[in-house]
Amino acid sequence: MKEHGEIEIEISECSFISAMTLTLKSDENIPEKYILPPLQRPNPRLMDYPSTNLPLIDLSLLQDPLFRSETINQIHTACNKLGFFQVVNHGIPILVMQDALDIAKEFFHLPSKEKMQFASANVREPVRYGTSMNHGTDKMFYWRDFIKHYANPISEWIQLWPSNPPTYREKMGSYAEAVNILQKQLMAIVLENLGLNANYMHDEIEEGSQAMTVNCYPPCPKPDLTLGIPPHSDYGTLTILNQNQQGLQIMDKERKWHSVPFIQGALTVQLGDQIEVMSNGRYKSTFHRATVNNKRNRLSIASLHSLPIDKKVGPAPWLVDEQYPIAYREGSFGEFLDHISKKCLSETRYIDTLRIL
Ligand code: OGA
Ligand code: NI
Repeated sequence: MKEHGEIEIEISECSFISAMTLTLKSDENIPEKYILPPLQRPNPRLMDYPSTNLPLIDLSLLQDPLFRSETINQIHTACNKLGFFQVVNHGIPILVMQDALDIAKEFFHLPSKEKMQFASANVREPVRYGTSMNHGTDKMFYWRDFIKHYANPISEWIQLWPSNPPTYREKMGSYAEAVNILQKQLMAIVLENLGLNANYMHDEIEEGSQAMTVNCYPPCPKPDLTLGIPPHSDYGTLTILNQNQQGLQIMDKERKWHSVPFIQGALTVQLGDQIEVMSNGRYKSTFHRATVNNKRNRLSIASLHSLPIDKKVGPAPWLVDEQYPIAYREGSFGEFLDHISKKCLSETRYIDTLRIL
């Protein structure tokens, strides 16, 4: 009996139908488990009209003494209002961004058998290929395939990454290193804007975790009925996203969704739950989701940064006062992983379990 049970677990954990396979079948319809209740479906009009007034920040102006403080202020306003902004002239060459997206695309076009070597439903696996959010626990399915892997320090993780396509490690690795440098520059500004020392948590940021989520959203015959990723906030400090076309949507404080426009060469930056907790609620993490389309494969690479996996993070003591009484308990990335291994992402947000007020 036990033996039988074990076999069943093995099968359910390691076999699934990828979104890529469903697309290749060219069916007109999508399986039932992908069809969202009407209120959770994306608004098709919104998908056609991306927002024109989301913050776009030129980071090269940080080098200009005349514009530096204004640019830092723009970042503060964006963090305060939306927890989201796009950046250009960020120092990462377009070729490095493009190569990472191209090699990601090649990876997802490999035969299933090749990708399945990395399949796992265990959220702590250092390299994990999967579909939807977690094929092991999802009740609803989402139209995406992904490979996730850690990247900082790169020498510790890179040999675990796929060796096929042959230049995967080199191309994804160059991008991972460049985006980690950008993340550290942005964190120094975000902390300064919060009134914390730019060196606050310096070592923890240096040794922080970088989880690269490489997402593939193949063309979907019914993009109005489903999503690529359900609404969620990212757990860490900052998430930096590189994409080959539009599809990301963010929610503002009035709970209104906005389609983020695709801007060639731009990267999107979002605040995660750890910043909300550290700032004691002055900044909020961004609620976001991904839509799919019926024309082109969408690729995105989300670099999710956080403090080291077991580092307990609570509100910075300087940000707790009469106006802002302590609003969160301490939590860690590790505890977040335990949370999502038991609950669907859409059931309870981890950050809600940390709220005191
Ligand atoms: C994520 C995410 C959005 C996108 O990977 O956490 O929110 O546009 N991705 O791919
Ligand atoms: Ni996300």
